Amino acid sequence: MDELLETVHQRQWFYEFELPDGSRTESYLPAEARTVHTTRLAMAMAALEPHYGDRWDQVDVLDLACHQGWFAAQLAGKGCRRVTGMDAREEHVADSELICRAMGLSNTGFVRCDIDALTKNPDIQPADIVLMLGLIYHLENPVGAIRAARKMCTGHCLIETQVGPHLSGMLDWGHFDFVRPIQGCFTIIDETEETHANEASTTGICLAPSAETLVWIMRKVGFVDVGLIAPPENAYEQHRHFKRVMAVGRVP
Ligand SMILES: C[S@@+](CC[C@H](N)C(=O)[O-])C[C@H]1O[C@@H](n2cnc3c(N)ncnc32)[C@H](O)[C@@H]1O
Repeated sequence: MDELLETVHQRQWFYEFELPDGSRTESYLPAEARTVHTTRLAMAMAALEPHYGDRWDQVDVLDLACHQGWFAAQLAGKGCRRVTGMDAREEHVADSELICRAMGLSNTGFVRCDIDALTKNPDIQPADIVLMLGLIYHLENPVGAIRAARKMCTGHCLIETQVGPHLSGMLDWGHFDFVRPIQGCFTIIDETEETHANEASTTGICLAPSAETLVWIMRKVGFVDVGLIAPPENAYEQHRHFKRVMAVGRVP
């Protein structure tokens, strides 16, 4: 077996990567949770294929919080011009580079970067497609992250997140005669004991929006045609039950 593939097979991965010899990496995710990835890929492709399906070779992609680069590798495998992945964790950047080398993908590159520093990183350029999957509910500034995604996007942006319950109605805003409509809300989750974990927040205070809130914020920061992508039949249960959603928006 190729030495690189042997290295890859010596451990478990977050994702099941398909390798050039037909083998797959072993995932440490429980079997019942693994469709979380294939469901999201199907949703992403349903939104992107109609716009880019006939010209992948002219398309640049930015995968924000790429983890081990599975989504980046799927897009790179479509023949995209360039796929850049970034993640706050150095080990994910190294793993992404390793797996893409093992997969023979030469159109990928990975950068260690915190989402808060995204727009100031000289190694990361705007792209036609921006993916921000599984990130914002690990952040204490999800609105800033969505603004950064908008800045780095020239075409379509996909944002996928765990969502919390929605809140609407009117709120007294300084005085009961001056009321404002509530546009949405965030649910706060504590990951302060898990900041060492591969998939977790780096700071520990996590704000998960409601689905309606996500759509509202995406519109407010400048995306148009914003909407939720329908989960496929047999989707991962969280997507099927709208506990996680994927929204798409376009840059006008
Ligand atoms: C749940 S995983 C999602 C990975 C991948 N995007 C996916 O959807 O499968 C969350 C990822 O966000 C990264 N992350 C967490 N906080 C971050 C931050 N402040 N800036 C950049 N990446 C961050 C983690 O290292 C991890 O790779």
